[in-house]
Amino acid sequence: MAQVRKGFPEDFLWGGATAANQLEGAYNEDGKGMSAADVIAWIPKEQRTGDHVMEVSSERLEDILSGKFEARFPKRDGVDFYHRYKEDIALFAEMGFKVFRLSIHWSRIFPNGDDAQPNEAGLQFYDDVFDELHKYGIEPLVTLSHYETPLGLTQKYNGWASREVVGFFANYAETVFKRYKDKVKYWISFNEINVMTISPFTGGGVVIDQAENQLQTTYQALHHQFVASSLATQLLHEIIPGAQMGCMLARMETYANTCNPEDVLKAQKENQMNLFFTDVHARGEYPKYMERFFNENNVVIQKEPGDDELLKEYTVDYISFSYYMSLTVTASPEGERAKGNLFGGVKNPYLKASDWGWQIDPIGLRITLNNFYDRYQKPLFIVENGLGAYDKVEEDGSIHDTYRMDYLRQHIEQMKEAIIDGVDLIGYTSWGPIDLVSMSTSEMSKRYGFIYVDLDDVGNGTLKRSKKDSFNWYKKVIASNGEEL
Ligand code: BG6
Repeated sequence: MAQVRKGFPEDFLWGGATAANQLEGAYNEDGKGMSAADVIAWIPKEQRTGDHVMEVSSERLEDILSGKFEARFPKRDGVDFYHRYKEDIALFAEMGFKVFRLSIHWSRIFPNGDDAQPNEAGLQFYDDVFDELHKYGIEPLVTLSHYETPLGLTQKYNGWASREVVGFFANYAETVFKRYKDKVKYWISFNEINVMTISPFTGGGVVIDQAENQLQTTYQALHHQFVASSLATQLLHEIIPGAQMGCMLARMETYANTCNPEDVLKAQKENQMNLFFTDVHARGEYPKYMERFFNENNVVIQKEPGDDELLKEYTVDYISFSYYMSLTVTASPEGERAKGNLFGGVKNPYLKASDWGWQIDPIGLRITLNNFYDRYQKPLFIVENGLGAYDKVEEDGSIHDTYRMDYLRQHIEQMKEAIIDGVDLIGYTSWGPIDLVSMSTSEMSKRYGFIYVDLDDVGNGTLKRSKKDSFNWYKKVIASNGEEL
């Protein structure tokens, strides 16, 4: 009889996750071109109309590029990892990281997206970063596209709305696979691919007001990303035998507010709409339930000959996902709305929420892991999880972030339970091990890190790094392979 697992496997990959556009800065150095993230402005809280500010209209883009719209663009500066990566990686190593998730800023390699030749300085930068990681025995986990579509592709092709972008992406993927074939084993094609349905600009450099039928354009752009992901998987397996490609979903485990079948049906539908993306990536075909949705919404996906076969043949090797919260939905129009970075729902009375209103649900992570594994039987990798919170720096410089340790502890406990349930979980990278710019609000005050960065929302600060209490706590978690929490 097979042995029941008692805890984390010996080779479990503990670490942290980041994205180039929120971390690196140096947006116009060493030949880098502009990307979608570089034109996302920070809007002071009082002036925000929605929770997140991730969309850019045609008019706004023109005003930004002509200088008519003046604002801060924090993702251009990040937290200066570009110049401080050695110091930062040394701190990750001190915590005992086995893996570090980062993205390659596509426009650092192909400044306009469609250039004939890559930018050598950009390639060299990631060579240096990977070498530095390997110096400490840290495995890089690399996302090819984390909201960083080159702006040149938006201006010329309306981003992923155009099929041509598939070819440019494949060229980019092939370039970096060949360059880093001895340095990177774990890859992810698109970060939170489902974000395209929330923000086509952030998800795919698509200025959606240029589309006649916005839903059609959104799902067509997604089709292009699915095809591009399969092409990248094919290339990866040819160029780096043994390397693994993962997909990445912002998973929203969705509960019914009551046992009223109408609520249950609503939750089932929402779960399907969220799992659609991993269904395509992992099962290699569009699920049946989407046919009805497409039909009722006048969406007709334009496929090229060979697309279906490509999706079927080159499915992902593992499923990765972000998990911050769960959602609760009701079929009734009443009910107090809950907040989230991307999605809404109603308030779940059994859960507490973060300072930003995200409903904290550690058991939901165990449910998510079990559901994913039941559905796909592929290895799972949690590549984002964490608590965005305000931190207070004491007079002596210390930061007592017990709330962060509590959040992470409770989630790691549930991961262990899921492993005992039989789930094949291969790793965990908590989001933002070092404070970085928020994706949804471009704030600095929303902090996830074990490492504090002295920088505020308006750009003041020395960028000095310091350890929060959670730094030594996470170090202990890793050293004990998840036993000491
Ligand atoms: C995920 C993204 O949605 O959540 C990250 O992949 C992001 O880029 C993270 O930073 C946390 O969201 P936020 O808005 O708090 O930065």
